[in-house]
Amino acid sequence: MTAGTLPLVIQGGMGIAVSNWKLAQAVAMAGQLGVVSGTALDSVFVRRLQDGDPTGAVRRALASFPKPEIAAEMLRRYFKPGGRAPNEPYTALPMYKQAVSAVREQVTIAANYVEVWLAKEGHQGKVGINLLTKVQMPTLASLYGAMLAGVDVVLMGAGIPREIPGALDALAIQAPAVLRLDVEGQPSDQPVTLSFDPSVHGMTDVPLKRPDFYAIVSAHSLAANLARKATGKVDGFVVEGATAGGHNAPPRGAVKLNDRGEPIYGERDAADLGAMRELGIPFWLAGSVGTPEGLAEARRQGAAGIQVGTAFAYSDESGFTAEIKRQVLSDVAEGRAGVFTDPRASPTGFPFKILESPNITQQDDTRERLCDLGYLRSAARREDGRTIYRCSAAPVSEYTNSGGTEEDTVGRRCLCNGLMAVIGLGQLRKDGSVELPMVTSGDTVSELAAVAKGRTSYSAMDVLKYLLGDAPPAAAVAG
Ligand SMILES: Cc1cc2nc3c(=O)[nH]c(=O)nc-3n(C[C@H](O)[C@H](O)[C@H](O)COP(=O)(O)O)c2cc1C
Repeated sequence: MTAGTLPLVIQGGMGIAVSNWKLAQAVAMAGQLGVVSGTALDSVFVRRLQDGDPTGAVRRALASFPKPEIAAEMLRRYFKPGGRAPNEPYTALPMYKQAVSAVREQVTIAANYVEVWLAKEGHQGKVGINLLTKVQMPTLASLYGAMLAGVDVVLMGAGIPREIPGALDALAIQAPAVLRLDVEGQPSDQPVTLSFDPSVHGMTDVPLKRPDFYAIVSAHSLAANLARKATGKVDGFVVEGATAGGHNAPPRGAVKLNDRGEPIYGERDAADLGAMRELGIPFWLAGSVGTPEGLAEARRQGAAGIQVGTAFAYSDESGFTAEIKRQVLSDVAEGRAGVFTDPRASPTGFPFKILESPNITQQDDTRERLCDLGYLRSAARREDGRTIYRCSAAPVSEYTNSGGTEEDTVGRRCLCNGLMAVIGLGQLRKDGSVELPMVTSGDTVSELAAVAKGRTSYSAMDVLKYLLGDAPPAAAVAG
């Protein structure tokens, strides 16, 4: 992307599949940057297939997959014409580990390919993919799948994505790529790596382009560090404040809580935009800036534009279930929706924003602990040198038996299952219950009325019109 074609609005990546291909496609068609979430897409993909792929979209994308044998194998394994039988749980994928089988990698490749391919279908607009740096193990296969579908931009935050630019350079020439896996207790002179070799999957004849890479940061110091020390070019930054939806960076220094139990952020937590301008790399602001005034102010501060999440999360195209959108928009209209920044809920240890909306029953700590998706499992070195995987939201004994502390398990929620439930793909349990949703939103959820303008629903285009004025949004893109 050259300076002339930078978007004014980036529709933020929202996992799991809240920013799905339909939302990203709508935004990209309007000339702004549409972003699919790549987090846990492999599970989303196999669940959509098990639900019978009612619109045929997944199969349409798979029909264009560069290696038909892989596409056929995916259908053979996961597609259920007509969907699952009543009371039939989803068949789960094996949880990720440092090394997985070629077929398991291919599920991830195909899933990311499908999402990006569908988001790019039928227009020339730009599509990005968002991945969480902390979710390390599926990253390389996800990037490769997205690149096979021609993804234009990769955006990554929730950690320090120092090694990603170099990995993109390698994958773009179909060369093996390597990332370092964080393993607690591992001596630094014996690094454990994640490696991905495109030649294993037989698609090295497909010409790939190197997507742009935008790092999502909360502090200018991190941006400066990445600009200097990343393993390849960083093409842009999203500077995200602590009011943004999803995970937030923790406050700097010792964490203090307010009387509701939320982390307190201060002036030291705001990025220095002067320092951002000095880097000479385009940047976008994110977090409570999704208003026409927020966009104008961001531009005045030297930003290329804004990244917006919450307003798009409740649009017709997003992955939230229709019921969640309806309830939340009605609670917003009645002034009853808010957000709690939970310092404990996420097993990543980062603060995580949870929607407060009286009519939505969400997962709470009465959920029987069970870890079967495992995206937030972290790796640790056992005394005998073997690598083990654990999640602090898993059953307490499972976690402590693998060397974790009981204290670490307190207040943790199963984000993986909760986030699958908000997009209507919640797992059915043996006792007949279905996993409850966990809805995340930015602090601005209570201000959605300005976007909804009295309507009970609105589209992604309505959000863009609100942000950019009534001129067709595509015309607002420079160049
Ligand atoms: C439902 C939801 C899920 C999100 N998930 C992610 C995510 O997976 N990765 C990420 O980098 N940011 C995530 N975000 C943050 C958005 O990409 C965006 O930066 C943020 O929402 C901007 O602030 P706003 O909500 O005030 O517009 C999420 C936000 C929301 C509302």
